Amino acid sequence: MLLLQQAASVACYGGLMVISSLPPTLSPQPLSWRKKTPKIKMKSGQCIMRRALIISELELKPPPYSLNSLEPHLSRETLELHWGSHHRAHVARLNSLIAGTDLDGMGLDDIVIATYNKGSPRAPFVHAAEVWNHDFFWQSIKPNGGGQPSGKLMELIERDFGSFSRMLKEFENAALTQFGSGWVWLAYKANKLDVGNAVNPCPSEKDNKLIVLKSPNAVNPFVWDYSPLLCIDVWEHAYYLDYENRRDEYVAVFLEKLVSWEVVSHRLDIAIKRAADRAREDEKDS
Ligand SMILES: [Fe+2]
Repeated sequence: MLLLQQAASVACYGGLMVISSLPPTLSPQPLSWRKKTPKIKMKSGQCIMRRALIISELELKPPPYSLNSLEPHLSRETLELHWGSHHRAHVARLNSLIAGTDLDGMGLDDIVIATYNKGSPRAPFVHAAEVWNHDFFWQSIKPNGGGQPSGKLMELIERDFGSFSRMLKEFENAALTQFGSGWVWLAYKANKLDVGNAVNPCPSEKDNKLIVLKSPNAVNPFVWDYSPLLCIDVWEHAYYLDYENRRDEYVAVFLEKLVSWEVVSHRLDIAIKRAADRAREDEKDS
C-alpha cells in the first residue's frame, strides 16, 4: 500500500478524527474516489487543521450530515459506534491487508469485485465490501427522510412490485428474515452480467427491473453486477443501542423516517443510463 507522508486536512466529527475532504458519491457504482490526494486547506470556524501524518490512500468517508442529526431515530451514540468504530475499523483493516499486494492502488469498487473471487472471497473482501456498503448506507439516509419517491422511481416500483406499499413490505420482510448479519437491498438488475467473476444469483429473473434481495455478511449485489439503489444494514451494531433486539422497529423507522428517496432516484437514473450505454455498446460489437 502506498503510504503518503504529508500534510492532510483533518476534520473533527463528533469528537472523532476524520481524514477526508472528498464529496460523497451518490453513484450505485462509486468510482475511484480514494485515489485523489487530499488537499491542504484551512477553513475558519471549522475543526480543520494541518499536521504531518502518515496516511493511506483509503480514507474513512464521513456521513453527509452531523452525527446527531438523525436523532431521535438513530442516536449520536449509534453513529459514533457504527461509523466511528465499526466502519473505521474496516477501513483500517482493509488498508493493512492490501498493502503491498496486487490490490494496492486499485479503486474500492475494483477491489470488491476482485476479492469476491467468484464467490470464494479472498481475505480483504469482507473489509472492502463493508467499506463500500457503509459508504452507500450513510448516503442512503438523511435527516427528515422517508415519505414517498416520485417520477421514474415510483413508476418502476409500481411496475415491478405492484405498488409502493408492496415494495416496502417486501423490503421489510427481507430485512426481518435475514438470519444473522447482513444487508437488504433495492437494486436495479441490468441487462448484462459481464463482470468477469460475477455469479448471478437470479439467472431466471427478467432483466431491467427493480428487485429486493438480501445478502449475508458483507456481500452486496454489486458483485453480481446489479446496480444497488438502497440498502439497510441489519447487523446488530446498526440498531442495538437504540432498538435493542427490535429489528422490526428499526426497519420501520428506516423506511418511514430516514430513506432519502432523492438519492435512490438519482442512483436509478445512473443505473438506467449505464444499462442503456451497455446495450448500445453490445449492439456496436455484434
Ligand atoms: Fe454496519
